[in-house]
Amino acid sequence: MGKYDFDRIIERKGSGAMKVDGLVDIFGRNDLEGMWIADMDFAVAPPIAKALADRMAHPIYGYNVIPAEYWDSVTGWLSRRHGWEVKREEITFIPGVVKGIAFAINYFTAKGDKVVIQPPVYHPFKMVVEGNHRTVVNNPLIHDGDSYHMDLEGLERIFAEEHPRMMILCNPHNPVGIQWSRETLQQVAALAARYGVIVVSDEIHGDLMLDRRPHIPFASVSDEAASVAITLGAPSKTFNIAGLVSSWCVIKDERLRKEFFNWLETNEFNAPTFTAIIGTMAAYNHCEDWLDEMLEYIEGNIEETRSLLQELAPEIKMVTPEASFLVWLDCRGLGLDHNRLIDMFVDKAHLALNDGAMFGAEGEGFMRMNIGCPRSLLRHAVQSLANALPLVEA
Ligand SMILES: Cc1ncc(COP(=O)(O)O)c(C=O)c1O
Repeated sequence: MGKYDFDRIIERKGSGAMKVDGLVDIFGRNDLEGMWIADMDFAVAPPIAKALADRMAHPIYGYNVIPAEYWDSVTGWLSRRHGWEVKREEITFIPGVVKGIAFAINYFTAKGDKVVIQPPVYHPFKMVVEGNHRTVVNNPLIHDGDSYHMDLEGLERIFAEEHPRMMILCNPHNPVGIQWSRETLQQVAALAARYGVIVVSDEIHGDLMLDRRPHIPFASVSDEAASVAITLGAPSKTFNIAGLVSSWCVIKDERLRKEFFNWLETNEFNAPTFTAIIGTMAAYNHCEDWLDEMLEYIEGNIEETRSLLQELAPEIKMVTPEASFLVWLDCRGLGLDHNRLIDMFVDKAHLALNDGAMFGAEGEGFMRMNIGCPRSLLRHAVQSLANALPLVEA
């Protein structure tokens, strides 16, 4: 065993965790193994818990400053981990990545404007565009058997003919787990610069690269990319601290940045809680070894998923992720329609996964499984799935 115990099973019931205590609201029953919403069942690294406990021991929870060390912790991390140099004035705090997307939509686009997304993709992208009365234009990913690639011709056609104001890029892409290549990102940037499209790049999974692949921040790939990019990221997925609600926004281009950052400031959308500041500094400054060990554990879980599925449920194919703890399962080989597939997972196997169709019509027949959990729970889940298969076929 390494320094940290990722095999430890921690009871989350009653802790207010959406993954467990939200089961009835979302799935209609609570006797399910939670493998859906994207947080992990691992304890946070000790420096995070200690820093928060130390601060909580002080009995006054008043307004807080943002120390210079907070900004250094974020920019230092981006430089050290991703070789991406960000200046203090290019970054601001945002209270969540989806909220950051919403801020960008509200500030840079008008009602009715078009915003491009690339399904199957993280479902709030569509919801936040449509909920703000903008229009989604889909440029679906192309599924080429084992993996996915971006339809750059489709993107150019949309840029040229539909004149969208914005595109939301997912880099790495949830749910298919792809880190886009430098060349692909450069082509997206060139198109966006030519057609005047702002690219909001959601890089929340960027720290979770597997097998020592590099994460490539979109804004870093060319001058064109830096001129069109609004990059959103967070320590939340990386260190399992989503409940602290701490995220950041980087904009390199001064023209894009200045008024937007002023607007965030005026509306106090950029004001963190002290728990966000403390958790973020502890994570970025003191928890890199925890992250590396956790990623190795996830790599082991992915291997385990692959081999168990091959052995117990070979009709289900796993798209091997390049990043993160979310696994995209191609269940079309089971030959079940959408309702029977959901019934099999929820009512027969007693598993709570994300239904692929929620990420767009292209996700129908797929399921997204969160494997950020102790290996014994993962094994139990795949076994439950295998046990459920004959019940459906009968
Ligand atoms: C791609 C992506 N963006 C954003 C989020 C949510 O981020 P936040 O909680 O900071 O809004 C998630 C969570 O699963 C995600 O997968």
